[in-house]
Amino acid sequence: MVPSIVKAGVVALSLAVASVHAAEYTLDPTDVYAGAAFFDMWNFITENDPTGGFVDYQSQAQAQAKSLIGFNSAKNRSFIGADYSTVLSPIQTATNRGRASVRIESKKNYTRGLFVADLYHAPANVCGTWPSFWTVNHENYPEWGEIDIFENINENTASLHTLHTTAGCTVAANQGATRQTSTEQSYNCDDQATTGPFGTTQSQYQGCSATSTTANSYGSGFNNQGGGTVVMEWSTHFIKMWTFAPGAVPANILSETPDTSTWGLPSFDTEGGNCTMNDHFQAHNMVFDLTFCGTYAGQSYFWEQTSCYKNNPTAYATCADYVAANPSVYANAYWIINSVKVYQWQY
Ligand SMILES: *[C@@H]1O[C@H](CO)[C@@H](O)[C@H](O)[C@H]1NC(C)=O
Ligand SMILES: *[C@@H]1O[C@H](CO)[C@@H](O)[C@H](O)[C@H]1NC(C)=O
Ligand SMILES: *[C@@H]1O[C@H](CO)[C@@H](O)[C@H](O)[C@H]1NC(C)=O
Repeated sequence: MVPSIVKAGVVALSLAVASVHAAEYTLDPTDVYAGAAFFDMWNFITENDPTGGFVDYQSQAQAQAKSLIGFNSAKNRSFIGADYSTVLSPIQTATNRGRASVRIESKKNYTRGLFVADLYHAPANVCGTWPSFWTVNHENYPEWGEIDIFENINENTASLHTLHTTAGCTVAANQGATRQTSTEQSYNCDDQATTGPFGTTQSQYQGCSATSTTANSYGSGFNNQGGGTVVMEWSTHFIKMWTFAPGAVPANILSETPDTSTWGLPSFDTEGGNCTMNDHFQAHNMVFDLTFCGTYAGQSYFWEQTSCYKNNPTAYATCADYVAANPSVYANAYWIINSVKVYQWQY
């Protein structure tokens, strides 16, 4: 017979062991996108832009030959740019698809995880640009969802966070200070929806979208502070996002032991809404791209809000007119990526 005091000791010990091995994020080396092998981990998408852009997406060999991609071994970071010297015809044809640029999709796909992108620079917020860091399963859109982490168009200065799904996924009313810091623009993640919960209206293809209120989340503000760390957490229960300035990155991110509970209010959070993650999101590839014009930046409603249109509505009646004629304004339309790390939750 075991004296009860010993049993109690055993119980206490096993509890202690259990708490030491609490659930946590771990990082597999094959999920670190960085260093000289960075570009080997992505497919270069060369088809006509699925988002309708005035863009000529390049293969890896073409991009290399035109110096649109590169790895800086001294700084240990990767560069992805666009052509900024060629004047084009604005008439899009099969042989004049638009401005040369790059769209890469991770070879690996992910269902859930903590996606941490350490960026040094993102494409400048100039007329005609539409850069994005996002996740999607390109062949199964919108059934398997889309998560736009860092994105905007033209001269905008704040990043947008957006989910696109089929019907049946909504986010909560403007979550204000209770759950997220960004400002909700639309609540129904259904890509086809034109109405949302709470009697709201929204545009078709808008999805559920929120504008970051984090300082310098996009454009020249982001670049002038040396970029930032952009994070998306996708669990069985929610999707959350954060943006951290270079000096404000949590120590547990830098040490590769991320603990999201210590990071404060996310910029974006689906909790409190009505969306079953597993029904709407699966097998996503990460994407970095920079397109021009297209179904968002090139929409006349948005194009006509730009200073480039307003200063010369005759010459630049369309977004493609401007992008074709003004290559040099895209000298700063490039990504510099220190690393992307995708953590998985271990129980
Ligand atoms: C480059 O950066 C990655 C990600 O931070 C790191 O794993 C790798 O060791 C670095 N390589 C060098 C040569 O410093
Ligand atoms: C996702 O990746 C797995 C391997 O991890 C592969 O078996 C599967 O076919 C991929 N799914 C899609 C839709 O690409
Ligand atoms: C939440 O979504 C489910 C499944 O689409 C639906 O049956 C339910 O009515 C929704 N609840 C609310 C409060 O909108």
